[in-house]
Amino acid sequence: MTVHFIGAGPGAADLITLRGRDLIARCPVCLYAGSLVPQALLEHCPPGARIVDTAPMSLDEIINEIAQATAAGHDVARLHSGDLAILSALGEQLRRLDALQIPYTVTPGVPSFSAAAAALGRELTLPGLVQSVVLTRTSGRASAMPDTERLSLFAQSRATLAIHLSIHVIDKVADELRPHYGDDCPVAVVYRASWPDQRIMRGTLATIAAQVAADAVERTALILVGHALGAEDFRDSALYDADYQRRFRGRGE
Ligand SMILES: C[S@@+](CC[C@H](N)C(=O)[O-])C[C@H]1O[C@@H](n2cnc3c(N)ncnc32)[C@H](O)[C@@H]1O
Repeated sequence: MTVHFIGAGPGAADLITLRGRDLIARCPVCLYAGSLVPQALLEHCPPGARIVDTAPMSLDEIINEIAQATAAGHDVARLHSGDLAILSALGEQLRRLDALQIPYTVTPGVPSFSAAAAALGRELTLPGLVQSVVLTRTSGRASAMPDTERLSLFAQSRATLAIHLSIHVIDKVADELRPHYGDDCPVAVVYRASWPDQRIMRGTLATIAAQVAADAVERTALILVGHALGAEDFRDSALYDADYQRRFRGRGE
């Protein structure tokens, strides 16, 4: 029996892969990670499926639920919001399943930073301006940040930052970044990207904290920071340059 970890996407019920949807439909047991996974996805579960919200459960209880299901001969669909590659608690679950010799698969999902960029209608990397995106967070009650991953250190690269789990400390985030990106650096806050109640706030490092406070946004929001969010005078990418096309098309990219 197999546990299928599935990235459930950022919120909109149709932002899940076909593979993820089909796995949900095949599994008689479905564990999902609380309010960030849309209820509409659970409608893909087969009739009579056991559906468990793991938000109030400990890791031991979750693993116990999985072990019981697989011992009873059931495949399990395990849903987490966004993609599983970051901030998903996947690692600790896989380590337990390895120890118990329970097989698993991992199906990627649309991460919230992609959904936020789509909501803004922006590319987060632009030729000649910024070519990297840092997916990060600030310290929380559950996880302290390693000292080598302070925002001020990432900021020295001037990469676009996608800052998770930090909307409640946006004033501190802005203060830490202002010396590196400048007061006028564009910032966007995307609340519940792709959900029906999605909201977008656009400002600068100098203004965004007050805007967020006025809008009373407290959770499930992503903070995007960087000059790619506002730039218009970047050069075209070489990929579609006519000369590049003549020389390299047909030989692979
Ligand atoms: C535990 S992390 C999960 C990240 C997830 N694995 C991903 O791929 O996006 C939860 C944080 O992700 C961000 N997030 C998740 N879904 C979001 C959405 N639909 N819109 C904006 N931010 C979201 C928020 O910063 C939230 O506090």
